[in-house]
Amino acid sequence: MTVNRRDLLALLAAPLASGTIPAIAAEGTSLGAVAAAVGIAFGSAFDREVFDDADYRKLIASETRLVTAENALKFDWLRPKGPDADFSTADRIVEFARHNDLLLRGTTLVWNDNPPPWLRRSSLTELRYLFDRHIDETLTRYRGRIHSWDVVNEPFYPPQRLPGGYRQGPWYDAFGPAYIERAFRRAASVDPATRLVLNEAFCEQQDALGISVRAGLLKLVERLKGEGVPLHAIGLQGHLKPALPFDDQVFVEFLTRLAGFGVDLYITELDVDDGGMPDDINKRDLMVASRYRDFLKAVLTVPAVKAVITWQLSDRYSWYGELARRKHPPGRRPRPLPYDDGLQRKPAAQAMIEALLTRVK
Ligand code: G3I
Repeated sequence: MTVNRRDLLALLAAPLASGTIPAIAAEGTSLGAVAAAVGIAFGSAFDREVFDDADYRKLIASETRLVTAENALKFDWLRPKGPDADFSTADRIVEFARHNDLLLRGTTLVWNDNPPPWLRRSSLTELRYLFDRHIDETLTRYRGRIHSWDVVNEPFYPPQRLPGGYRQGPWYDAFGPAYIERAFRRAASVDPATRLVLNEAFCEQQDALGISVRAGLLKLVERLKGEGVPLHAIGLQGHLKPALPFDDQVFVEFLTRLAGFGVDLYITELDVDDGGMPDDINKRDLMVASRYRDFLKAVLTVPAVKAVITWQLSDRYSWYGELARRKHPPGRRPRPLPYDDGLQRKPAAQAMIEALLTRVK
């Protein structure tokens, strides 16, 4: 079923008993279609599991419009053993997106976290060479096929106590904080058509970490834009952790300030950590749904927000599931996403639709 603006307006005009689900959601309209009708590109991360899981492949293709490769385009996945890249999995991901008419986001070109072990043993001269080479080779290979690149991921991590709150790692060692503008300028020169994104974590948290990362990011974006660095959008990851303090209105004010620098805003890695919630699945699903609803209703009031992407679409492939499996003994199965392990819609999906519908003006 396709959905247009007029259908959505009619829906909103119809009185809804509290707790009822809009008919449009019950009829199984895709999240991507509802979001598109209100001007939002919706999608999710996925990775190589789509090559083996036909049902998930179908779900991704039907529900999403803008997707992210969860890992396949990261430095450590492209160059696990040494400087020479193996692009074979990334090529298949890019082809999957093209084949299904999905716009693909690249994450992440430059990230100080998760360097492969061999990179840690490289000299400063080698690191500087590898930085430029990685940007040139990766962007050249996929030129014209990537909607947007997270050029720099997670520049801040104040607990590491570097000046300015920057995150430690090889690229910081190689150039200091100047690695950030270097990456953006170089990326723009190799692929002038892709949108260049600065992606950051923790910003929705109203704790010491969230507050300090927000302050650092505002200063950085102001500086980069002031210096004419090509920067088109800010990605806010949105790994929501209801057990930590949050204040959606403070987050909205922060988004509004960011937008004032002339950038688009993408929610890039949305999911809800259900750790600490009751074991009862129905209760847990409603709590997760309610966090999705409140967060998205708030965020979608900001006109600069153009995309909402969940970090995988089904609990079957959430990174939280991977973490739980690695525990000894394995932890409870997390339920952080809009689709469950059986690829069935959860209340979180309906909550997202309800929140998206509030965007209709
Ligand atoms: O698939 C291999 C497996 O073959 C191998 O045996 C095993 C041994 O460690 O590793 C498996 O790969 C792991 C992979 O997740 C798949 O589970 C990697 O070690 C592990 O590093 C990787 O973690 C990813 C993490 O980023 C680091 O790149 C997660 O999937 C991914 O969800 C996570 O995503 C990050 C974003 O990029 C940035 N924001 C936070 C977000 C969540 O941590």
